[in-house]
Formats: sequence, structure tokens, C-alpha cells
Amino acid sequence: MTAKPKIWVARPLFPEVLARLADYFEVQVEPEDRPHDAAELRQKLAGVDGALVGLADRVDAAVIEGNHRLKVVANLGVGYNNLDLEALTRAGVLATNTPDVLTESVADYAWALMLAAARRVSAAERWLRAGHWPGSNMRFDDWMGLDLHGRTLGILGMGRIGQAVARRALGFGMPVLYHNRSRLPEAVERECRAILVGKPELLARADFLVLVLPFTAENRHAIGAPELAQMKRSALLVNIARGGIVDDAALAAALREGKLAAAALDVFEGEPVVHPDLLALDNVVLSPHIASASGETRRAMAQLAADNVIAALGYGESAGKPPTPLNPAVLAHKA
Ligand code: GLV
Repeated sequence: MTAKPKIWVARPLFPEVLARLADYFEVQVEPEDRPHDAAELRQKLAGVDGALVGLADRVDAAVIEGNHRLKVVANLGVGYNNLDLEALTRAGVLATNTPDVLTESVADYAWALMLAAARRVSAAERWLRAGHWPGSNMRFDDWMGLDLHGRTLGILGMGRIGQAVARRALGFGMPVLYHNRSRLPEAVERECRAILVGKPELLARADFLVLVLPFTAENRHAIGAPELAQMKRSALLVNIARGGIVDDAALAAALREGKLAAAALDVFEGEPVVHPDLLALDNVVLSPHIASASGETRRAMAQLAADNVIAALGYGESAGKPPTPLNPAVLAHKA
């Protein structure tokens, strides 16, 4: 009997997913969630045919240099700024991600953040838990927040998730403006009831601005001090995309100085460290990169990453046809 291929799973995963992988592979699973530096990644990937990696695992040219065994790296997430796609393609290594399965959950979470920041849910709960609620003597004008209904929703980055955020705006009676590299097909614009505008117009008109764009070199600090200065003082900013798209220091300054009403952030520059100026503010809702973390969706993401590895290594019903490749040129080359 030939030996099973080996794979490395960079973080603990659901038992049912690991069991499925074990049907085909010799599986080495990291027992705890922690970041891996380049030297460790290099060493872990050296002895395996495939890997499932987390978003904090940076797989670049140096990590895979001289590795002639590795065939597939499956990212446990839709964003893949942690993967050097060019280097992987050059090395003939397939990269995959987990699109679609998380779209609706992430869009739900964008609304959770918008509502929480607008109605000051987190700050009010902190106040209640601290025993500050005086009961019937609470001032009638205490804890007043912002309404969503009837306000303008702006979406920067109108891919699958941006569109899912937009579709939910109908229930809140919010007109939708968007800015994107390219215009959406008319039918999609109609379905999302979304109107394309330039970035300056989006910044100037949005009452709620949701960021859903991928992190690339051009998008670094796409929202910095100059952009924040173009927004309404009454506006609210939501980042569910990636840390680094917002200049967190500039955002904290704008929130502190009343140049922006509120913000809600699920992602940060330098995660898991959060800028201390943000931690000191009450008009920002902070969460630890959990937009896709519903039970169903996290399971579906892990299964999809496993499907990709199984198919890429030539097993299962879709052998040779991984469902969500990022660099399909690698497959074409092998065919
Ligand atoms: C989460 O941030 C993802 O990219 O899936």
C-alpha cells in the first residue's frame, strides 16, 4: 500500500473536518491557535503535500523557496493578502480561499456593527454592567444614538459581500451608494438598489460607510485623515474588510475630535494589537475579527478548505478540480 500524502493543518479545526481529511491523508494538526513565523512555516511546509493555513500565516517566496513537495495551500478565509500568489504560482503551488460560504454571515455582521455603533449598544452595556443604571431616574435624553432608517448607506468595495450588505438595506429604507473598481451589471445594481458614485461623492454623502474592499498595496490607508475629513461629522464608519485599509490612528483622532460620530471595527492594523487610542474611546465598537464566525459558516469554511485540498491532491469526487482556486493557471499547467 502506498503511503498517504501528508498535510499540515495550521490551527485546530472541527473534528468532522479533520476526520474527512484523515480519510485521504496523514494529517498533522497544530494543537493550538498561534501565529507561525516564516522559519516555522518554512519548516512545517517542507515535509507536506498540502496545508490549510490561517490568515495570520504569511506564505511568501521565502517560505516556499526550494520546497518541491508542496502542491496546495488552502487559506481558511476569503481574503488572501497573507498569500504571495505570484510566488505560489511560480512555484506551481495551488492556492485556494473560502469565498461565497461566508458572504451572508459577514453581511449580517456588517449590520450588527452598524446597529451596535449607531445605537451605542456596547457602551450602554458596559455602563449597565458597571452598575450605573439609576432606574426610573435615568435621564430621558441619555444614551441617544443615531437612526439608520432613511439614512444613506455607502459601500466601498462592491464584491459579493458588499452586494449582500446592500440587499439588506431595503428593510431599513436606506438608499445605497457604492464605489468600486468597476461598475456592476445593471441587473445587479437594480437588485441591490445601488448607485455607483466616485469615491469623493461616496465619502461626502454616506451617513454609514461600510468598507468591504480587499487589502492590496493600493488600498493601504484608503481611509486616512484626508478621506475622514471629507466625511460628514455625523457619519459612522464600519470596517469589516482588513486592518490597514483604515489608518487607525487617524480614525481615533477623528472620533476623539468629533470629526466623525462613531465607528465599528472588526479588523485592525497589526492584529491582535489594537491601537491604544481606539481602546480609549467609547464611540467605537471593537470586535476581534469575527465577521464570519457563525457556527454554520465557520464549519462551511473549514469544509471548503478541506474540499480544496482533497481535490487538489487528486482525491474525492472533484479530483483535480478544486472548487475555489485562486491561481487556476497552476491547474491548467498540470492538465
Ligand atoms: C476573514 O477576514 C476572511 O478573509 O475570511
